[in-house]
This record gives sequence, structure tokens and C-alpha cells, in this order.
Amino acid sequence: MVIEKKDLDFFKEYTTESSSIIPLLQQIQDKFGYLPSETLGELADYLDVPLSRIYGVATFYSQFNFTPLGKYVVKVCHGTACHVNGAVDIADELIDIFGIKEEETTSDGLITLQSVACLGCCSLAPVVSVNDKVYGNLTRADVRRIAKKIVKDEFE
Ligand code: FES
Repeated sequence: MVIEKKDLDFFKEYTTESSSIIPLLQQIQDKFGYLPSETLGELADYLDVPLSRIYGVATFYSQFNFTPLGKYVVKVCHGTACHVNGAVDIADELIDIFGIKEEETTSDGLITLQSVACLGCCSLAPVVSVNDKVYGNLTRADVRRIAKKIVKDEFE
């Protein structure tokens, strides 16, 4: 991805106070889908803070991604309710079918597999989300069916 200076004009909507770090990181991620390293350098220059400070903030929050996400972002909940209802089996199924580990993206950019602490619908455990749409009460067979459609890029 080539990022030009004009792509970062939105920086000017924010003050150069350090309180602008998080909203600007969110804006960068909204615009590019992740935090490209060159934008973080530009952000450090704009706010006149060390680049290490920007990375320190960005790495603290799990909402920020440092690599582009796949077309399908699949999140496996590993919270307590999901864990006791088979989250590990669900994750194993996805890892097997996608051929990647959690926190990885397939080389073709189709699928990102992430683990999360809770998707906020514990009564439906075990739970998986695909592009933020939640699927609950899953069996291994359900997950296999969903995963195979995703692999074929036929999931809606
Ligand atoms: S523990 Fe999985 S949704 Fe809360």
C-alpha cells in the first residue's frame, strides 16, 4: 500500500496533544483497515512524540492491527463460558480447515483468525463471529460447514 501525505490530511482535525493518539490511531485503522508502519511514523512527527510512545499505546489495545486483515475476520471466543462449552475444539476445527493459527491471516488475504476474550453473548457459548456477525451454540459440524464456505469465499 502506498500512502501519500494527503491521505493523512485528517490528522489536522486533531490537536497535537498526546490525548489525540488514540483517536488518531482509530482513524488510521478505520481508513486503512490496519496501522501501516509509515502512518505511525507520520503520527509521531505530527504529535512530536517518540515513535516508541505511539507503538506503546497501539500495542496496549487489542483493537489495533499491525497487518492487513483478511476479507473474512473470524473471531473465536475463548472466554470462560465458551471455554467450558468447547471453544478449544471449535478453534481446532477452524485452525485445521483454514491452515493458519489464531492471530494469523492466510497468505491470499482471505481469512484472518483471531482469538478474543468474550464476544458479549456468553449464553450462546460456544461463539464465533465472522466479520462481527455472531454465531452461537456451535457444534464442530456447524463450524466445519461455516469454515468450508469461507474457504471457498462463498460465505454470506
Ligand atoms: S465467554 Fe464467549 S461470548 Fe462471553
